[in-house]
Amino acid sequence: MPVTLFKNIGALLLAHATAPAVRKGKDLGEVAELKDAWLVIENDLIIEFNRMDTWDQTLKTYPNAEVKDLEGKCLMPAFCDSHTHIVFAGSRENEFVFKIKGMTYEEIFEQGGGILNSAKKLQETSEELLVESAQRRINEMMKLGTAAIEIKSGYGLTTTDEIKMLRVIKKLKQNNPVTIKSTFLGAHAMPAKFKNNRQAYIDEIIQQMLPQIAEEGLADYCDVFCDKGFFTVPETDIILETALKLGMKAKIHANELDYSGGIQVGVKHGAVSVDHLEFTGEEELEVLSNSHTIPTLLPSTAFFLRLPYPPARKMIEAGLPVSLASDYNPGSSPSGNMFFVMSLACIQMKMLPEEVINAATINASYAMELNDSHGSITPGKEASFIITEKIPSYTYLMYSFGRPCISEVYIKGKKVS
Ligand code: NIG
Ligand code: FE
Repeated sequence: MPVTLFKNIGALLLAHATAPAVRKGKDLGEVAELKDAWLVIENDLIIEFNRMDTWDQTLKTYPNAEVKDLEGKCLMPAFCDSHTHIVFAGSRENEFVFKIKGMTYEEIFEQGGGILNSAKKLQETSEELLVESAQRRINEMMKLGTAAIEIKSGYGLTTTDEIKMLRVIKKLKQNNPVTIKSTFLGAHAMPAKFKNNRQAYIDEIIQQMLPQIAEEGLADYCDVFCDKGFFTVPETDIILETALKLGMKAKIHANELDYSGGIQVGVKHGAVSVDHLEFTGEEELEVLSNSHTIPTLLPSTAFFLRLPYPPARKMIEAGLPVSLASDYNPGSSPSGNMFFVMSLACIQMKMLPEEVINAATINASYAMELNDSHGSITPGKEASFIITEKIPSYTYLMYSFGRPCISEVYIKGKKVS
């Protein structure tokens, strides 16, 4: 059995002897940090860790192990990215220019761009090509330290094409060391042909798409883009209700463009997470406080679309377990770089480095229900971690924005970069 010992770890971050609870309140502001440490992994799992003053004994316990000297570098758990749309057929940099010239995300959508543009391209692209391009994105994300990815459908927008997308995600699940969760997002945008008959599309989702997806076991979650100009609260309600009956759990795109009621309807259906939340007021904070739903913030989307940032400080003060994700997609966040997400969270949302590190790892693992296997350095969890460059402190990871301080990445005990 291959055992590897890592010694002279300058700081072992999020070193928890047992799997930590979701981080909120005082806990969100504290990073468990073991200085001058060693770590043992066996195959794909974390076995144990402690301080270097017990190293001699450790070496005797594992006489045949491979030893790696980290020479003072930091070791931290790999990221969980609980919100992405990385199965897509083409980039949308033309819209990037429209936005520079002053058009809004909603105006571009109303002219047939945006999600509908991506749907048209995806419908014309084969499953094989979609797998290939998404795989390139996964490879890039792994190298940037991400070990778990949630991927949504939502660029199909017909029964055939939504199922095609979910089958692509299923293949990606089978072919990757990264753990993948799949989410059905048929209610991402109203296809043009249903513009004057919205109910017919809702019926297609609840009567055809959802039952077929449940039958084939293609989705872990069901998501709806519940926002101004996209799907209404009653439409979201019936879709989530149907999905729950079929055994899927809810996730939701909410309050990105307005106070949409999305947070409330998500919480009503016990959503695992509600995501975006740029428009969150007192009422929404109250609803979230009385729930187990994780508020997931996507600051690179707010950055790219020049939206107001979600009120992260208010959420933290309200005791909420804030989580962070990339929203990697071609329209509003063409990047899966969690280091940049963490820097933005500090710079633009005034989250403290400790809060950001917990939000992108432990809390994000809860936002995709992988908290037993991911999100912290804990015996029995997967050996998926980042070895940083030699840095003065963990705060440097966020401070040094735009330049991920990575030396090596391990996923399930194997070095991937
Ligand atoms: O999360 N908000 C809705 N959906 C995506 C954007 C998708 C797109 O523009 O292609 C998002 O930002
Ligand atoms: Fe999204």
